[in-house]
Amino acid sequence: MITREQALQAVESVTSAAAYKETQFRDVVVRDRQVSLTIIAAAETKPALEGALREALTSAGAEAVHLRFREPQAAASDSAATPGNGGAAKPQSAPVQGHGAGLTSTLLGRDSKVQFIAVASGKGGVGKSTVTVNLATALARKGKRVGIMDADIYGFSVPDMMGIETRPEIVNERVVPIERFGVKVISMGFFVEDNSPIVWRGPMLGKMLRNFFSEIEWGELDYLLLDLPPGTGDVALDVHQIIPQSKEIIVTTPHATAAFVAARAGAMAIKTNHEIIGVVENMAYYKCSKCGEPEYIFGRGGGAKLAESLHADLLAQIPLGQPDNHISEPDFSPSVYKAESETGQLYLELAERVITKCGN
Ligand SMILES: Nc1ncnc2c1ncn2[C@@H]1O[C@H](COP(=O)(O)OP(=O)(O)OP(=O)(O)O)[C@@H](O)[C@H]1O
Ligand SMILES: [Mg+2]
Repeated sequence: MITREQALQAVESVTSAAAYKETQFRDVVVRDRQVSLTIIAAAETKPALEGALREALTSAGAEAVHLRFREPQAAASDSAATPGNGGAAKPQSAPVQGHGAGLTSTLLGRDSKVQFIAVASGKGGVGKSTVTVNLATALARKGKRVGIMDADIYGFSVPDMMGIETRPEIVNERVVPIERFGVKVISMGFFVEDNSPIVWRGPMLGKMLRNFFSEIEWGELDYLLLDLPPGTGDVALDVHQIIPQSKEIIVTTPHATAAFVAARAGAMAIKTNHEIIGVVENMAYYKCSKCGEPEYIFGRGGGAKLAESLHADLLAQIPLGQPDNHISEPDFSPSVYKAESETGQLYLELAERVITKCGN
């Protein structure tokens, strides 16, 4: 074990030496037995400094040490930098790193009335993003002011699923989310070009997520849904830390294994005191087009079992079937079900349940 305090002490024990008195450090993240931090130091001190820091942190109990070195000048210009790093092309309008990234934004402020709902799962591909965009649209159809934060920074998909083809504009140095089906959307997808991969280490993800709160002109919202990446990784942890008041919906398929893995995401929510609003079982059945009877293609009962194990409600069972949308329609989207469709109605019922649970 190594605590953050122990890591800080170890780093300070090195950087306080006379030879390194110009050295600064920041972004210290301690997770499990891994420590990562940024060192701002002159290039010529790097080899000796790196060795000394690794040794100090390892003897303090760190198993893995990730050091990022920045030269003082480059670090000073960080506040004007865009999040492009590695794979991401230089975006036109990305929220800038660093400045204003504190938690002072009104969205996260003490008086904020916004209901945060993180949509999580254990396994990938079970339909988190589909549930997020459709629940958000259903809440908007019910007259709520709704936003979606596509917190799946590496695997963003919300803009595409909602059929968004434009990019946000900047007004008064703040990024204005794109509105689609009455929902305000922000996604990393708006800030990369040509679907380039994002190649970042964990701490960058947290920074970007914070910027999604502080640099975005969300306006007044009743609900902000967060589409999480699968599993219990860095971003999920960051969300738990940044928005302790967030509630959660866990998505699973009916298969026993998916529900078993989803229980881990649920356990993480419970551990971090996030209230679980309930479980959505997606791809729950296929309704036979000839006889109208449900066929349980992916098994049966996973959602109910998961809900029971989490002491939560099974909020909805969404059948298998793509939306009946056509590319020629003016409001085309690949993944948003029409309000009058059978699945669209199920999402409206889900929205009603969520509103009841959240009390507004
Ligand atoms: N009820 C459904 N019926 C048919 N297809 C569905 C249904 N729900 C989701 N899909 C499809 O399954 C695929 C995965 O869904 P989605 O991207 O929403 O999952 P996810 O959990 O967000 O995935 P990831 O873990 O990769 O973020 C998509 O192609 C989506 O269109
Ligand atoms: Mg997704």
